[in-house]
Amino acid sequence: MKIVLGPASTQLGKEIVNILKVEAVPVAFKTFPDGENYVRLEGQVKKEDVAIVQTTSPPQDSRLMQLALIADSAKRNGAKRIIAVVPYLAYARQDRIFLQGEAISAETIARMLKAAGVERMITVNVHQDKVLLRFPFPAKSVSAIPLLAGYFVKKGYAKAFALSPDEGAVHIAKEAGNILGGEYGYLEKSRNRYTGRVSMAKKTLDVRRKTVIVFDDIISTGGTIIAAAKILQELNPENICVACVHPLLIGEAEKLIREAGVGEIVGTDSVPSSVSKVSLAPVISKALTR
Ligand code: R5P
Repeated sequence: MKIVLGPASTQLGKEIVNILKVEAVPVAFKTFPDGENYVRLEGQVKKEDVAIVQTTSPPQDSRLMQLALIADSAKRNGAKRIIAVVPYLAYARQDRIFLQGEAISAETIARMLKAAGVERMITVNVHQDKVLLRFPFPAKSVSAIPLLAGYFVKKGYAKAFALSPDEGAVHIAKEAGNILGGEYGYLEKSRNRYTGRVSMAKKTLDVRRKTVIVFDDIISTGGTIIAAAKILQELNPENICVACVHPLLIGEAEKLIREAGVGEIVGTDSVPSSVSKVSLAPVISKALTR
C-alpha cells in the first residue's frame, strides 16, 4: 500500500506512513488565479493499493475537489484500488431530507467521489453511521472517542462524568464513559431547522462537584457546547471540559466556548486547529490494515 499525502492532511498522512512503514506519495498542488484546483502525484502508484489521506473541513468544496482530482490521477496512473481516507467528511450532516426540496448532500458527495475513482472510504465518527450504507462503495466510520477519553484519563480525569449534548449521541457518551470509568448521560438539545439555532432544556443530572466532559462529534459555531455549558453551570460541577472529534471551530467559537466557562477543549487532527491534541493516526492505520 502507498499513502498519498493529500494537501489538507499532509501531517496526518506522514504519521500514518510512519506507523504502517509504507511509502508516501507527495502531491504537488496549486490554485489557479480563477480559483480552480490543480494536483499532481509526485510518485508511482501503478498496481498499488492507494490510500489518499485528505480531510474535507473548510474550505470543503475545494478540498473535496482536490480529493476527486487525486483519485482521478491515481486511477489514470494504474492504481489497483483507491481508498479515500477522509477524517472529516464534509456534507455528512445533511444525511436525510429534513425539509421538502432538500438534497441528501452526503450521498451526492459519495457518488461524485465514486465517479472520480474512489472504491472504498474510511472516515472518522461520521455524524450518522447509517448514511454510509447508502454510499456506492464500502465505507466505514472508525471512532476516535476512546482516544479522546484516553487523553483525559492520562490528565487525571478518570471517573469524570461523560455527557453528550443530545440523546441521539448518547452512544458517544457511553463509549467515553467505558474508558473514563465514570457515569454517562445526555442533555436535551433541539435545533430550529430554519434558523439553525440550538436550544437546550434544563435537566437534573448528578454532576455537583464532579468534572464533566461533554463529548460531541463536531464543534462548528460552538452553539451546542455553549448551550450545554449554560445548563451545566447551574448544576455546580467542579469543572467543564469538552472533547470533540472534528474541531471546525468556526469564527470565534473557541473564544465563546471558553467565555461560557469551559476549561479544556480537546479535539483531534481530523481538523488541524489550536485544540487538536489527539492524533487519529493510530486508529486510521489500524483500519487500513484490516
Ligand atoms: C449536530 O448534531 C452535531 O452533533 C454537533 O452537535 C453540531 O454539528 C455542532 O454544531 P455547533 O457547534 O454549530 O452547535
